[in-house]
Amino acid sequence: MKRKFSFLLFFFFFQVVLADLKIGFYRNTCPRAESIIFGAVQKRFSTDKSITAALLRMHFHDCFVKQSEKDAGANQTVRGFELIDEVKQTLEDECPLTVSCADIITLATRDAVALAGGLNYTVPTGRLDGLESNVGEVNLPGPSAPVSDVWQLFIAKGLNLNDMVTLFGGHTVGVAHCNFFQDRLSSPDGSMDPTLLNHLKRNCSSNNNGNPTAFLDQKTPFVFDNQFYKQIKLRRGILEIDQKLAEDESTAKIVSRFASNPVTFQKSFANAMIKMGNLVAKAGEVRQNCRVINKAKNRRSQTIS
Ligand code: HEM
Ligand SMILES: *[C@@H]1O[C@H](CO)[C@@H](O)[C@H](O)[C@H]1NC(C)=O
Ligand SMILES: *[C@@H]1O[C@H](CO)[C@@H](O)[C@H](O)[C@H]1NC(C)=O
Ligand SMILES: *[C@@H]1O[C@H](CO)[C@@H](O)[C@H](O)[C@H]1NC(C)=O
Repeated sequence: MKRKFSFLLFFFFFQVVLADLKIGFYRNTCPRAESIIFGAVQKRFSTDKSITAALLRMHFHDCFVKQSEKDAGANQTVRGFELIDEVKQTLEDECPLTVSCADIITLATRDAVALAGGLNYTVPTGRLDGLESNVGEVNLPGPSAPVSDVWQLFIAKGLNLNDMVTLFGGHTVGVAHCNFFQDRLSSPDGSMDPTLLNHLKRNCSSNNNGNPTAFLDQKTPFVFDNQFYKQIKLRRGILEIDQKLAEDESTAKIVSRFASNPVTFQKSFANAMIKMGNLVAKAGEVRQNCRVINKAKNRRSQTIS
């Protein structure tokens, strides 16, 4: 018996989803998103003040490095991702495939900065998570790069010199592992306060901690304030690039302004963070698991409103 076959044609539409950032993006689709994120960050912060630094650095990497920082391989020194996983789980139960990982990181960072003493700035949401998951694109300059090289990177991202010096204010919290500034200790160039130099030499050679660190802001390492700028003016910067900001003629004046005016710094920081937070994938998806791109079956087509 002969049979006629009709072929069904499947058209695969690879719908490009475009990010459309606005304040309160989840107001209707996941109204409790921002308060759930805040609750989790506050809980963690109450027992672990270092979460502010962890999130801040994660957010910087998420914005500057196309590949998602959480993807396997990029685990070198970025901490705190388990908090993002936990929040994501809660939000998937509350409103599945709705709140992007990039937005969770952005909002969690905003809250952690505010809890540590920074401004609680209003940040637009609606980011999408990247569809690429390769680790090839990590090309951030190292901590010994010349100021002009780092400046070029910021310019390439549409940020200016003032934004750059402002965002380095993120180093007012958190730590650096000794390997990132070891050369300043083994062959000192006179740019570091001698007392600090001796302390760092001692701490970095101590064996009681396998991977010793130093606070980037030696005075108030858990407070989000302008102390970082005061410290680098006193030649108490830890990273070479931090110290150079206070000396380089392109940046020294901005450093002095922030060192003597905390309010100016806080406002400038909030603005620069919003600007940096806008550097996101224009097309992408809402990941179900922040560590991996979705399997095709979970890839939801969304339309642009
Ligand atoms: C190209 C510019 C930058 C360079 C070269 C740089 C370099 C570094 C290095 C080497 C560390 C130490 C990492 C470790 O030992 O684990 C560090 C830590 C940190 N960076 Fe940056 N950074 C830059 C820009 C930024 C920006 C723009 C921010 C945020 C706005 C930021 C926030 C942080 C924070 C908060 C830490 C401490 C992390 C922690 O305690 O876990 N950095 N940075
Ligand atoms: C990241 O961590 C995983 C498991 O903890 C390890 O297998 C992998 O080699 C690490 N990658 C890098 C680049 O350190
Ligand atoms: C910041 O403000 C938002 C509302 O805009 C709020 O949801 C959040 O809890 C606040 N965060 C902190 C740390 O106060
Ligand atoms: C050296 O280590 C001690 C103990 O961990 C710490 O309190 C101190 O801040 C460290 N000093 C420097 C310069 O990092």
